[in-house]
Amino acid sequence: MKRISLTQHLVEEQRQHNKVPSELRLLLEIVGRACKTISHAVGKGALGEVLGSAGSENVQGEVQKKLDILSNEILLEANEWGGHLAAMASEEMESIHPIPNRYPMGEYLLLFDPLDGSSNIDVNVSIGTIFSVLKAPEGMVTPTEQDFLQPGAKQVAAGYAVYGPQTVLVLTTGNGVNCFTLDREMGAWVLTQRGIQIPVETKEYAINASNARHWYPPVTRYIDELQAGKDGARGVNFNMRWIASMVADVHRILNRGGIFMYPADKREPDKPGKLRLMYEANPMAFIVEQAGGAATNGKQRIMEIQPTALHQRVAVFLGSKNEVERVTSYHHDA
Ligand code: AHG
Ligand code: MN
Ligand code: MN
Repeated sequence: MKRISLTQHLVEEQRQHNKVPSELRLLLEIVGRACKTISHAVGKGALGEVLGSAGSENVQGEVQKKLDILSNEILLEANEWGGHLAAMASEEMESIHPIPNRYPMGEYLLLFDPLDGSSNIDVNVSIGTIFSVLKAPEGMVTPTEQDFLQPGAKQVAAGYAVYGPQTVLVLTTGNGVNCFTLDREMGAWVLTQRGIQIPVETKEYAINASNARHWYPPVTRYIDELQAGKDGARGVNFNMRWIASMVADVHRILNRGGIFMYPADKREPDKPGKLRLMYEANPMAFIVEQAGGAATNGKQRIMEIQPTALHQRVAVFLGSKNEVERVTSYHHDA
């Protein structure tokens, strides 16, 4: 098999589509390199003393794990010096992180969820990193949070890494979705899937069903129909999977179809869901749409939402088009 590296792939994408200028390529290569470092730390587990809680909380009031903090530091350090970024933002930092004065400032903004699926770290289940790349607004001098508040449709690239049985990097720059597998001996990202397309039809769904009693009627209606299987309105049986790492659930859906849901619910009516718009939902929505799927908050396309805060939350329905359209239509009916 002819091996195509991440660098070669990005250079070829630039030649074909003129959408990956060398600054953006450098940025993506550096994020890829940081993900290798995180993958290495994850793989060491207890031997690397990376498991367990860090004893602190992030801005969302969630307990931080050692790996949440370590992964955040790895991404910050890797991306500071390249001259391609103006600022970064992360799930694990309350405010944005401008590039220090000692380095040149570039024209891109990088957002990340350094470690997704934190509850799975200590039990050796797949976890990952999610990232989103925006262009800094024209004329920006000193980056502020406001500069990041662009709808997902403005993303110039997005991706995620999964640290599982294999470490993979899934990437889009707006010309489809490609997957790279980490060759652990060579330390290289090798292109292993090109132009991934999510199957339109699916018989698999992912939702944390322990929240069922808190759901709003459109979600209950949709899930009741799936669970009724052959005997209900849908007339076919559905299977359920919930990994509790969005990266791993989305990766399964990319490969064999399905719908992933994290709805808003009645527990906290003011909170529009659990997942964060800017560094979880938007990058995943971009990838899923680029793979022929759909992503909504139940009412509108996630990528069209105008963000109002860096850490804002959003309800998420994404994956195979027909299912996402159906559950979205149930919200409109209600
Ligand atoms: P994070 O670890 O970055 O905080 O994100 C966890 C998210 C997401 O990955 C996953 O789908 C969901 O939380 C799991 O939620 P439950 O604990 O309700 O299963
Ligand atoms: Mn996450
Ligand atoms: Mn996280």
